[in-house]
Amino acid sequence: MKQQMIQLLHEAEGFVSGQELCDHFGVSRTAVWKVINQLKEEGYIIESVTRKGYRLLEAPDLMTAEEIFAARGRNHSACGPVSSETPTNASSNGALRDIAGEKLKMGCRILSYDTIDSTNIRAAKLDEEGYPSGSLVVSEEQTAGKGRRGRSWSSPSGKGIFMSLMIRPEINPNHASMLTLVAALAVSRAISRVLGTKLPENALAIKWPNDIVLNGKKIVGILTEMNAQMDYVNHIVIGIGINVHNTDFPDDIKDTATSLYKESGVRIKRADLIAAFLDEFEHDYEIFLKTEDLSALQKEYNKLLINRNRQVKVLDPKGEFTGIAKGIDVTGELLVEVEHSGEKAGDPAQEIEVKKISSGEVSVRGIYGYV
Ligand code: BTN
Repeated sequence: MKQQMIQLLHEAEGFVSGQELCDHFGVSRTAVWKVINQLKEEGYIIESVTRKGYRLLEAPDLMTAEEIFAARGRNHSACGPVSSETPTNASSNGALRDIAGEKLKMGCRILSYDTIDSTNIRAAKLDEEGYPSGSLVVSEEQTAGKGRRGRSWSSPSGKGIFMSLMIRPEINPNHASMLTLVAALAVSRAISRVLGTKLPENALAIKWPNDIVLNGKKIVGILTEMNAQMDYVNHIVIGIGINVHNTDFPDDIKDTATSLYKESGVRIKRADLIAAFLDEFEHDYEIFLKTEDLSALQKEYNKLLINRNRQVKVLDPKGEFTGIAKGIDVTGELLVEVEHSGEKAGDPAQEIEVKKISSGEVSVRGIYGYV
């Protein structure tokens, strides 16, 4: 009843009368009043006026299933009610996997925690627990947030979005790394949708393969982890950390990290951003599944690529080199033009070699710093 009450209050144009709520839920006025009080205690600001009823003035910045679903429900009716902890009876057979052309429902199950070790660790267990593809784990805080390359991810309570989406795509495991780029694009679009004109033009960009930067500093990190056999993906977890309200950062990242609040001065509702991401990812994931490559998304990704036409240092374990990044190809590899001066003297065309950099093997830095 609480979840539906939140939904009703969110959707109402003005007041909802006490009688309407009693009739809708088939309960007494006292029962309605109790839920309203519970919501007020959770931070909802609800106006109560005699003979008019109740009106939601402001919802708190919570990342609960109720708030995310309400934020989404306004333009997404296909999801149906979310449950916080109830697995479906799904088993791990092929029929459950995501294929192009099926109605995919990202975020239909949302597990929301106050604190957790890592949302990626929790999401990886959802598969065997029978949760459907598209289930989402969100937490206010992580005590062991994981970053790429064995690093940790700073996850202080109430400051960011820490979320992990579990999906079961029917794809070749070798194509799975492209989903990280699909997610990066979806997060960038979601940020633009929520902050709109509050961000300076061209301030938001992607640093290959999947960091999102704002005014040259990192605001989003993505860690994609796969559980697969040679030719079969069991599940993939896409873990996303977004710096939202942070005003300061630990010493080791304070020069390279920033937050949406620091750059825009706006305190967004985190549920709105999560809802926008789910919409955008659902759309792009469907497109990706049709071809299992980035042919339909490459152009938009390259437009956002901060490294494009810039000199980058490629930290390849076989030997570092520098070159000019030209953009990604349809498989998500970064094309880097490397000049071999003097090697093939006399033929300028042959002095330029285009190297394809794959995200699993190397990382890329700007030659003067993080981007
Ligand atoms: C990076 O190093 O850039 C990737 C960081 C990914 C952090 C997110 S926060 C939510 C999810 N849970 C984790 O433990 N890590 C990812």
